[in-house]
Amino acid sequence: MKTRSPLIVANWKLNGGTDLICTSVASFLRQKFRVQIGIAPPYVYISNMANFLRNSQIMVGSQNVSKFESGAFTGETSAQMLKEVGCQFCLIGHSERRQVFLENNASCHTKVASTLAAGLMPIICIGENAQQHELGLTKHILYRQLQESLLGQNIKNKQIAIAYEPIWAIGSGKAATPESVQDVHEYIFNELCTIFDEESAKNIRIIYGGSVNKNNAAQLLAMPNVDGLLVGGASLDPEHFSEICALANQITPEVEFNS
Ligand code: 13P
Repeated sequence: MKTRSPLIVANWKLNGGTDLICTSVASFLRQKFRVQIGIAPPYVYISNMANFLRNSQIMVGSQNVSKFESGAFTGETSAQMLKEVGCQFCLIGHSERRQVFLENNASCHTKVASTLAAGLMPIICIGENAQQHELGLTKHILYRQLQESLLGQNIKNKQIAIAYEPIWAIGSGKAATPESVQDVHEYIFNELCTIFDEESAKNIRIIYGGSVNKNNAAQLLAMPNVDGLLVGGASLDPEHFSEICALANQITPEVEFNS
């Protein structure tokens, strides 16, 4: 049985607006979930959405965070500012940020540290590209991403999560198979035991992202080391996303989890 409560996160990317916020909020306020649910809209909507969802179980998060705390850094938003407007988690190092905005493991390390210091949950995104996948380099790439973004982080009494998102599965309609995701997540769990210790690793949710939808969500979540899902495209349809959350809820027993 899983010891970590499932975490289902919507990453809206550069999509959505007031209409989507209203329909999402309306649909989620009506429902009760045993799983933890988060929505990461574009920055400008976080404050409003956090206000709307203040009395709900739904967390609002950001898709990025600055590695700086304050100063002359035009266009940046700090972890402390995000915390102040009601943000509860930050996606860090999403492959689109690595590819388009040249983020790397070193910048992820700084962002994880400032997110933890501000009391937000970092969700660190890692994953290999198609070529690395074909060459059998997946675990080698993940090893470096985990080591370089996590080594030395103080996670005592903090919540953190890892999102495994193979780049070739993102937006492609071709999700990784549940068995291959299980294999990779088990590897990630073992690495987390080495970077931190087994007790700490057991409290870190490892979630999967890449072409998740209502047809594959249950099979992915059935894998013992899959602690949740990071959903892109399918999360832009509130009905579709809440079906995924409902599926996660169905397979989650009514028990108290560690995290
Ligand atoms: P899709 O679900 O659209 O493949 O996107 C996955 C993703 O990048 C979530 O962060």
